[in-house]
Amino acid sequence: MNELRSWSSYWKVRRLSRLWGNSPSGLSHYDAAVYLELAEHFEHLHGPHGPYWIFDLGTYFGHSAFSFLIGANKVSPQSQLRVLSVDLFDQPAWLHTSKSVQDFVRKFGSTGLDAIGKHLATVCAASGMQAGACDQIKLLQQDVTQLSAEQLLQIAPKGFVCFLIDCGKLPDVMNSIMQFCTDSRIAPKGSLLVFQDFFDWHAPWNLWAFWKLLKAGNVRVKYAHRRIPPMVEIVGHTNIHPVCDKIEASQFESWCTPYTSPDNELRMFDEVTAFLQKLNCHELAVRVQCLKTGALLRAGRLADAETWLNGLDSKWPPLLKDGELQNAYARLRHLKTGNKDLTIVLESAHRRRRQSAVNNWARALEYRLRLMGALVLHSGQSQSS
Ligand SMILES: C[S@@+](CC[C@H](N)C(=O)[O-])C[C@H]1O[C@@H](n2cnc3c(N)ncnc32)[C@H](O)[C@@H]1O
Repeated sequence: MNELRSWSSYWKVRRLSRLWGNSPSGLSHYDAAVYLELAEHFEHLHGPHGPYWIFDLGTYFGHSAFSFLIGANKVSPQSQLRVLSVDLFDQPAWLHTSKSVQDFVRKFGSTGLDAIGKHLATVCAASGMQAGACDQIKLLQQDVTQLSAEQLLQIAPKGFVCFLIDCGKLPDVMNSIMQFCTDSRIAPKGSLLVFQDFFDWHAPWNLWAFWKLLKAGNVRVKYAHRRIPPMVEIVGHTNIHPVCDKIEASQFESWCTPYTSPDNELRMFDEVTAFLQKLNCHELAVRVQCLKTGALLRAGRLADAETWLNGLDSKWPPLLKDGELQNAYARLRHLKTGNKDLTIVLESAHRRRRQSAVNNWARALEYRLRLMGALVLHSGQSQSS
């Protein structure tokens, strides 16, 4: 039965957030809720058969790894979960201007592997987990593009039951990640892929990799939710390399980097949109349509991008925040004028209607109700086949 349901995810996330405090994190409320549920589920499923591994691609400050640890240890204090958490552990200078990062560095000395390890030990101790629980997370400082299959198999001889994909910030990194996801030793059938960067404007090749896997019949949707990117299960290992098949130098920023032909990319956005609509994930589909603006910009079709964006603005769902639409607009303006201002806003009659007091109130209410409600991840099997 492919359904995961939790009545109390809000309170679980609250507890996790209290433990995590204001340490930097790349997780949204929903990411944390899903990770806690998946961890409980995996511990029930795999725990009785000995150690099982999660591949956390992108440690950052360790929140995703820690969420899994908390979830699995809730099921059993001797949980069999093991997490391989990989990162460069070398955060860019701009990140060090953030207050939470500065606080972290003051407390733990740096953003390096040792500091993250100390931090994880501190939160593990505060959580009341057994001494040594923290050792269930193995931190590895390495560029993912330099990781070998043999290295991974030495750590996890039976491969990984789940991949948290959150470091595919460049197309060549995504190619390396996909090498692992199509290797039956590392990602055996049944492994779950979670694309945390599904909607990242800066890394559209995440969506592209998802679609390539789907088209090749390598995955099927395991869990769907109207607000959370679909999670897919490995069902095949057809060779799809290189996934990003036409990587070119970008004139501007990395999100402008072409990674396949414009036609391929545009078709992908349309097909993923249709696919999500079929799954009844209409809000996700709208957000993907927003990302299509980026594809038009990469193809140099600025006028088409503007027309497309105005069309989206006119039919934007009133209860959905329009942050992604505004982001796309700011990027369009940047390429059109050369002036980068990400605070600029598309002020239209449609937006003014969306921002009415009644709509703002309804949006805030719906948001709170949604967080407090049950988390139900549906089976997506029938729709994806
Ligand atoms: C968005 S953060 C991950 C967030 C994290 N999962 C969490 O729970 O908060 C992305 C991370 O990917 C790492 N990263 C980027 N490129 C990488 C690469 N080529 N190899 C390994 N890690 C990489 C970055 O250093 C960064 O810490």
